[in-house]
Amino acid sequence: MQAVEGDFLAALAGKNRGRAPVWFMRQAGRYLPNYRKLRETHTLLDLFLTPELAATITAMPVEELGVDAAILFSDITIPALAMGLDLSFCEGPKLASYLLKDRPFSFHVEMEKLYPVFEAVRLAKQRINVPLIGFCGGPFTVASYLVDGGEEGIKEWVAKSPEKLKELLDAIATLSISYLKLQIDAGVDAVQIFDSWANILSKEEFRRFCLPYYEEMIKEMDVPVILFAKQLGQHLDDLLFLPCALSLDASCSLVEVRKKTNKTLQGNIDPDLLFAPIPILQEKGRKLVESMKGDPAFIAGLGAGVKPGTPLEAVKALVKALQGIEDAH
Ligand code: CP3
Repeated sequence: MQAVEGDFLAALAGKNRGRAPVWFMRQAGRYLPNYRKLRETHTLLDLFLTPELAATITAMPVEELGVDAAILFSDITIPALAMGLDLSFCEGPKLASYLLKDRPFSFHVEMEKLYPVFEAVRLAKQRINVPLIGFCGGPFTVASYLVDGGEEGIKEWVAKSPEKLKELLDAIATLSISYLKLQIDAGVDAVQIFDSWANILSKEEFRRFCLPYYEEMIKEMDVPVILFAKQLGQHLDDLLFLPCALSLDASCSLVEVRKKTNKTLQGNIDPDLLFAPIPILQEKGRKLVESMKGDPAFIAGLGAGVKPGTPLEAVKALVKALQGIEDAH
């Protein structure tokens, strides 16, 4: 079979023979003018739960940037709706965490509340001609949003109620597995687990509160899985045994990691660089793909999500530089 340019699924299989595929975490978000236009007339929850709108936003970066993969427009906190928790997005997702305080974690899961998400997957698949990535949060990160007090709140649970925290994580992991399986049934080609906050844990805590859940979740998936966390590279020794791709940030060198593993590696440009002058960022992009040239298991992208306020022109220029497309000016 002929090698397809920027073939995301081939890179996930470790068999890419063309240039590296390119996509960015949080590529479907506020830096896109068309997204912002929709936000003027819709609440965030409306956008997440109206399949037609979620599919439209999912397709936007493919149409506007020409990325080689799309990611479903949703949020890691959305499955909380199926746990009977209220979710409101004001400044950020806020979960009515008082519900959790004194009750056992035997959630009655109402998966039908999430059906609009799976319908969005079906609609998005009809609109795009690149693979679609589904996702969920890592149980620890989702739990960080469920408990009161943010980072301090979850740290308190880690220190004072580890058994109760494990119960919560078990429940979230079980829900997340069903949620991902239904995304796969609806048509996603790969899934990514976003465990953004895992980096606040010590090595020992990471082994207790994150690693077993990755194993459990990955084992259940029949499409490729990508694992993302900030500073994931510091847990490389533990992660090499997991059958998944690793999404790494700018705190480690992909060339160095490649010496230790044949796994698919994704990353790792610092999203703050998107605020730098365009020539600097193009140079950085070109250097990254040059350093991984010919690698059959490399996906080019960012080390974390595109930030709000990022200039659209910068995102476009970086995608092109990573794809090896010469700029016209
Ligand atoms: O392209 C994409 O990645 C779109 C889908 C997507 C969203 N959130 C949409 C969203 C994905 C993959 C996420 C993941 C997510 N959500 C993570 C993990 C990745 C990471 O960046 O660390 C986390 C930690 C969240 C939680 C979250 N969602 C927060 C803290 C907030 C509020 C603050 C903020 O950054 O906006 C959200 C809201 C959210 N999720 C928006 C979008 C586009 C903001 C939209 C808006 O205000 O219009």
